Amino acid sequence: MTQSSTEPLTEFKKITVVGTGYVGLVTGTCLADVGHTVTCIDIDEDKIERLKKGIIPIYEPGLEQLVKHNYQAGRLIFSTKLVDSLPEAEAVVIAVGTPSADDGRADLKYVYAVAEEIGKGLDHYAVVITKSTVPVGTGEEVEKHIKKHYSGEFDYASCPEFLREGSAVDDFYAPDRIVIGVRNDRASDVMLDIFKPIKGEKVVTTVESAEMIKYASNAFLATKISFINEIAQICERTGANIDEVSYGIGLDNRIGPKFLKAGIGWGGSCFPKDVKALGQIAGDTGYEFQLLKGVLEVNSNQRVHFIDKVKAHFNTGIKGKTISVLGLAFKNNTDDIRESAAIDIVQQLVEAGATVKVFDYQAADNARNELPEEVIFCEDPYESAKDADVLLVVTEWKEFKELDWTKIKDILKEPVVFDGRNLLKPSKMEELGFTYSSIGR
Ligand code: UDX
Repeated sequence: MTQSSTEPLTEFKKITVVGTGYVGLVTGTCLADVGHTVTCIDIDEDKIERLKKGIIPIYEPGLEQLVKHNYQAGRLIFSTKLVDSLPEAEAVVIAVGTPSADDGRADLKYVYAVAEEIGKGLDHYAVVITKSTVPVGTGEEVEKHIKKHYSGEFDYASCPEFLREGSAVDDFYAPDRIVIGVRNDRASDVMLDIFKPIKGEKVVTTVESAEMIKYASNAFLATKISFINEIAQICERTGANIDEVSYGIGLDNRIGPKFLKAGIGWGGSCFPKDVKALGQIAGDTGYEFQLLKGVLEVNSNQRVHFIDKVKAHFNTGIKGKTISVLGLAFKNNTDDIRESAAIDIVQQLVEAGATVKVFDYQAADNARNELPEEVIFCEDPYESAKDADVLLVVTEWKEFKELDWTKIKDILKEPVVFDGRNLLKPSKMEELGFTYSSIGR
């Protein structure tokens, strides 16, 4: 998949990637796949042992095969000892987590701890690259942390990550752009070498601009979805159809067709965290980012509106009703439930006294730890639908479209479907005899 689409490299690099979370593991594995020798570091010994056996901690299409292949080829090494890998490293990538602190700020303690360790272990020129999403100005702080322990030569680069879960491997090989934030040509030469095998425009900027590009991209995409969700609300009240409206506005080149799918809103590990963090970054400079407040509010309201519709369906209240919920992941093709609208909705239904029967293709194991004990986990969508008073579609798994909806109609107690992802065709559902409701149409 990779080598045929790449140009030959003049020189492969020795790269250390710190953090085998989502970003670190995908980046490290794919960099090894194009020919670099990559050591992936994590403090979690169990995780490293499992990775050596080809057991990967997340569900991500294509990743497991790449991990196994490159590990066997000797280009991908897993270790818990950052210090051992540093003497050889020409580049060190920081890809550790930046969780939200209570006030919405990105918590940078892991990033700085790694920077200190790099400072202690480095003894030659290398480029230290941050892939974690970090506020503008973090680059300078990382440099300071390294310099506390190391007075030799090194350069810093910011290289934000734009991979989407569920299509991360494909996104790595066909990015819209690679953003490289540097302070000098020496660093950009190393970075351009590292990413030479990957097609796509390389945008070389200052470190600060690169940091801002990441936040602004995620905030803009989240804004686009919240915008279309508000339009969907008005569509419902005026009789317009959001599918037609999204298509119609998306044909305008200046708007574009993507991220205009109305639904119960965005979740995941990035949008919620980064939108809040950008609001904080703005606030810290004395500027109030007004638009983002609305973007967040619209997003949480979408879930509320959806549950209100379900509640309104039952004149006698939701208590004691059985509700089938299809989907738990924050979107399709992932097992990730972080900030998932689906999880939030299930929790609210249980609180309201409903019996909830859930199904997801990948996210059930993760969801078990989050959801109340009384939630019933089902082996397939039909088991979830059986004898339920209503069925909700809350994650956009394409597979839900292909279900035998005639069978589902027969096994549901009442043929009622609320589609929070506009996945199914209203005309087809009505033809089949469902009472069908979706978002903005
Ligand atoms: C996002 C960015 O797209 C990626 O560039 C960045 O690196 C990480 O954050 P990801 O979190 O994997 O990627 O998910 P994405 O595909 O962007 O979807 C985010 C959320 O928006 C999901 O909950 C999805 O269901 C929702 N969404 C997406 C919509 O509701 N409507 C849309 O039109 C698109």
